[in-house]
Amino acid sequence: MKIARRAERIEPFYVMEVGKAASQLAREYAGSDRPMIFLNIGEPDFTAPPLVQDAAARAIRDGRTQYTHALGLDRLRERISGWYAQRFGVDVPARRIVVTAGASAALQLACLALIEAGDEILMPDPSYPCNRHFVSAAEGDAVLIPTTAEERYQLSAAKVQEHWGPKTRGVLLASPSNPTGTSIHPDELRRIHAFVQAQGGITLLDEIYLGLSYEDTFGHTALAIDDQVVSINSFSKYFNMTGWRLGWLVVPEVLVPALERLAQNLFICPSTVAQYAALACFEDESIAEYERRRAEFKARRDWFVPQLQEMGLQVPVMPDGAFYAWADCGDAARRLGVQGSWDFAFEVMKKAHVAITPGRDFGQAETSRFVRFSTANSMQQLQEAAARLKGLLQ
Ligand SMILES: Cc1ncc(COP(=O)(O)O)c(C=O)c1O
Repeated sequence: MKIARRAERIEPFYVMEVGKAASQLAREYAGSDRPMIFLNIGEPDFTAPPLVQDAAARAIRDGRTQYTHALGLDRLRERISGWYAQRFGVDVPARRIVVTAGASAALQLACLALIEAGDEILMPDPSYPCNRHFVSAAEGDAVLIPTTAEERYQLSAAKVQEHWGPKTRGVLLASPSNPTGTSIHPDELRRIHAFVQAQGGITLLDEIYLGLSYEDTFGHTALAIDDQVVSINSFSKYFNMTGWRLGWLVVPEVLVPALERLAQNLFICPSTVAQYAALACFEDESIAEYERRRAEFKARRDWFVPQLQEMGLQVPVMPDGAFYAWADCGDAARRLGVQGSWDFAFEVMKKAHVAITPGRDFGQAETSRFVRFSTANSMQQLQEAAARLKGLLQ
């Protein structure tokens, strides 16, 4: 069968492929005294808090399971708007909020609405692989620009300017980033956005990890800069609802009708049960629980990253958000007699029974030297993983 070129161009999401290999090995080690510890997982180890679970159960019991408006429940759009006001001090009117099936559907809608075939979108290398694939699925071209630790693995205004060409349509950044957990400095973002606007381009910000920010300098939404920024967000990470498939995007008002038409046709609406459940995310009791969990994520980062450094797995920039550490394994791989982060990750999985993610997915620049650790696991598991890694790398 002839497969369309647009599908052929999409590479596998290796994070998931490595995850499959890790689960297979985990079954082999299940009976051993060292079962697999999963530090490769890109989702919180917490589930939705009790009020959210109750709200979902109530929606099902009461039969509130029909399609909703394509843009999402008005009440939910209002509550998200309230969250921006309360948490970030930014006025984001509900009419600019589009509720979607996760950030993934939000990114897909944004790309389909804004990118013409052959348009180029600038992105940092390393970055979340699916984001460049959303661009390719819209028949655009993602242009990966190598970044440095000094730039916090984010684009700079100078680099955006240098790489801007006749086909460039805009930039897509994730802040905090997956795989590095580092954010762009607000001043740099302001400079990038000013340049992009002057070219008539678009600034897309994937802010899915924004709720999980640990430093005051970085925990601000790009929507505070300008209402022309397109911001993508989700209930997956801060709100611990990955499998519920719910997210949203905030867009300039002129874009709403186009997104509504696309959403009506492609998805009809986001999950109704998930939307009713998400209303309860913004209750004081739920927010208090989310904040406790955010503190736990920060405590894990504070403990685990120095452990990596001690073992010679250098983390060039302390992550300021999310639950990832981007570590240079060049030296450690040599000590194990293997080359590159792919083989290193598999060696660690097989010898220490600790699953981690090789850099391969995230770009080309230095990804064969870097691995991603996820700290979305209990402190006890992180301590055991650190002990095993030290044993292996000494
Ligand atoms: C940077 C980034 N953007 C988007 C997504 C997709 O998230 P969602 O579950 O909301 O579709 C992820 C998931 O890991 C991510 O890391």
